[in-house]
Amino acid sequence: MEDMARLGVSPGLGWSSAHLPLKIQIQIHGREIAFEHLSGKDLRLTILERYTNCRTDAVVWDAGLVLANYLWYNICECDGTLGDSEKTPFAGARVLELGSGTGLVGILAGALGAKKVVLTDLPHAVPMLRKNVEKNWEEVEKYRRSMNCSSGSSDFSSVFHAVDLTWGDADDLKKLTLENCNFEYILMADCVFDPEVTVSLVKTLQDLVQNGVSTSKGGCPTILCANEKRECDKNARSEKLFRELLASHRFALERVENDEMHPEFQSDDIEVHRILYQGGL
Ligand SMILES: C[S@@+](CC[C@H](N)C(=O)[O-])C[C@H]1O[C@@H](n2cnc3c(N)ncnc32)[C@H](O)[C@@H]1O
Repeated sequence: MEDMARLGVSPGLGWSSAHLPLKIQIQIHGREIAFEHLSGKDLRLTILERYTNCRTDAVVWDAGLVLANYLWYNICECDGTLGDSEKTPFAGARVLELGSGTGLVGILAGALGAKKVVLTDLPHAVPMLRKNVEKNWEEVEKYRRSMNCSSGSSDFSSVFHAVDLTWGDADDLKKLTLENCNFEYILMADCVFDPEVTVSLVKTLQDLVQNGVSTSKGGCPTILCANEKRECDKNARSEKLFRELLASHRFALERVENDEMHPEFQSDDIEVHRILYQGGL
């Protein structure tokens, strides 16, 4: 059973489902998340969250906020010089997100000009993921237009695809890579929390880079990963296992330093890493 208890945390939903009549346990809230730019060219995303049955795809997690703000800050704000006609490194890129949850990180990548963003999660999470993509499309496209990266389409599916991808599932991966073999970026936030699924997660990464995806120039995609350290044994074991498995499959972890991170969105217990595949393709 995949739930918040597996992470050993409560995300602070504020009330217990025990006090609610069963039929009204699902509440959907839109949470506005603003990305502010020195030039005043801000982006405001509204992410629907479902205060529901304690599944981890229901809310935006802190590691997701940190990774999104790292992308925002590092890619387009750190020198404050993004002009109207300048493009971010995501412009024209193809991006795959694993364990997207509500989709904040992938949607931001789309706003920053990615040509294609494939957001993935367990099957039950995909409908909400699609809703969030659709809800933000107008704002995303407006931002893309302001950077001369417009998709030229009124349809979010010209850029975004929300699909099932259960880590370790060979059929899901095959379906995904048959249609998409080039990605410049793979993004993942708060995906390392359980030893069992960590094995599947690393298997998916390994399968992606060894048997399938590469950048359009034939190199290995840049993998960016944010993880939260939690004071629970399961989390510590997952993280240790994650590092060991990555090393055994020839991935190197390179920590993103605090001075590359958004000053207001960093904390000692959330680390962002670039994961580099050193096995060659
Ligand atoms: C802690 S949440 C993080 C969500 C989002 N990335 C964020 O930071 O807000 C973990 C995500 O991984 C997904 N997940 C868990 N196990 C999975 C599996 N075996 N395969 C694919 N996704 C999985 C969950 O559905 C959930 O959306």
